[in-house]
Amino acid sequence: MLRLDTRFLPGFSEELKAHAPLLLEAREALLAKRGQKGAMLGWMDLPEDTETLREIRRFREQNPWVEDFVLLGIGGSALGPKALEAAFADSGVRFHYVDHVEPEPIRKLLQSLNPHKTLVNAVSKSGATAETLAGLLLFLDWLKAHLGEAWRRHLVVTTDPKGGALRALAGREGLRAFAIPEEVGGRFSVLSPVGLLPLAFAGADLDALLMGARKANEQALAPLEESLPLKTALLHHLHRHLPIAVFMVYSERLRYLPAWFVQLHDESLGKRDQEGRRVGTTALPALGPQDQHAQVQLFREGPLDKLLTLVIPESPVEDLPLPPVGELPEAGYLFGKTLFRLLKAEAEATYQALAEAGQRVYALYLSEVSPYTIGWLLQHLMWQTAFLGELWGVNAFDQPGVELGKRLTRAFLEGEG
Ligand code: PA5
Repeated sequence: MLRLDTRFLPGFSEELKAHAPLLLEAREALLAKRGQKGAMLGWMDLPEDTETLREIRRFREQNPWVEDFVLLGIGGSALGPKALEAAFADSGVRFHYVDHVEPEPIRKLLQSLNPHKTLVNAVSKSGATAETLAGLLLFLDWLKAHLGEAWRRHLVVTTDPKGGALRALAGREGLRAFAIPEEVGGRFSVLSPVGLLPLAFAGADLDALLMGARKANEQALAPLEESLPLKTALLHHLHRHLPIAVFMVYSERLRYLPAWFVQLHDESLGKRDQEGRRVGTTALPALGPQDQHAQVQLFREGPLDKLLTLVIPESPVEDLPLPPVGELPEAGYLFGKTLFRLLKAEAEATYQALAEAGQRVYALYLSEVSPYTIGWLLQHLMWQTAFLGELWGVNAFDQPGVELGKRLTRAFLEGEG
């Protein structure tokens, strides 16, 4: 269950009523593009794709030997699986992410792995991303050197259904390839094979993840009063004059989720609108309780220039009681409590303290941290972003600024011959 709390934003219900026509128009405009070629709205349908899920499960069962899983990919091709694997891995398979091009960690990783027990997953929608191709060159070389002709069994690609270098490689070499549907862009691809394949090896409950995402789909299309994504989109729209959108999560298992959200929000919404104006707010990642001892100082006493979203679990999957230990009487106020109770108290205290400091803050409560609630949350945030794209007059599904960087990097290297 995912629940919105706006107790410190009085007047929000009235704002919701006042903005009903705008919100419904935005939703209608978005949905009118559904099914159009190039609209990139295929992410809405991913939670229903049980056929791909079956294929992925079959592949997992056919490869029980995997002890190390290396994901070569960057941006939308890595952040989602990284966040979910950290939260739900349960299989004993070790995960490694080559989402960078720093030589030393890659060399150390190559030296530490047993090639016979390693599956390499190269993930790239375009098949043209320099960081991913560089990693692939290194890992291909390594696999061939250690495994000879058997290397093909140790490389699986996740890419465009038709085009790009990875698709061509898979075709030439007969590699196993999973498709990122044509109408699904990088940062909206976590529920495609980009996320599902690594998560199958991690042993996560994929049915529950997709079931949660279907719940978000249902809510996105529901009447306004029940449409959580339209409500949170409105919260961001009403606060668009505040330059910073903090996304603070109270869960260690969800420690990489803020990075996933930052990419989704910033890359989708930070761009020129139809009139050429620069729009967007800057998403800032934060983690509770760690950032209570860091950023919360700024949040409480620094500029009132933020809208804060707190993601707070309401109950634990498991809990640990804090035992009374005679040697530490100073910790007496903790005796008899549980770790989760402490976490919850910290989250609630921060929520209240931020509101009292004059910051604009709301909470998304998760009934617990589970594949179901996180599938729901991820898909909810994708809908929120898509609605904001409509409200702010930007195409949430392109990334001309990122593409320019990719072209310039290539031009620099080609210039060097
Ligand atoms: O959201 C996006 O489209 C980007 O962040 C991409 O995910 C990122 O640039 C990697 O691209 P690709 O998957 O084509 O390698």
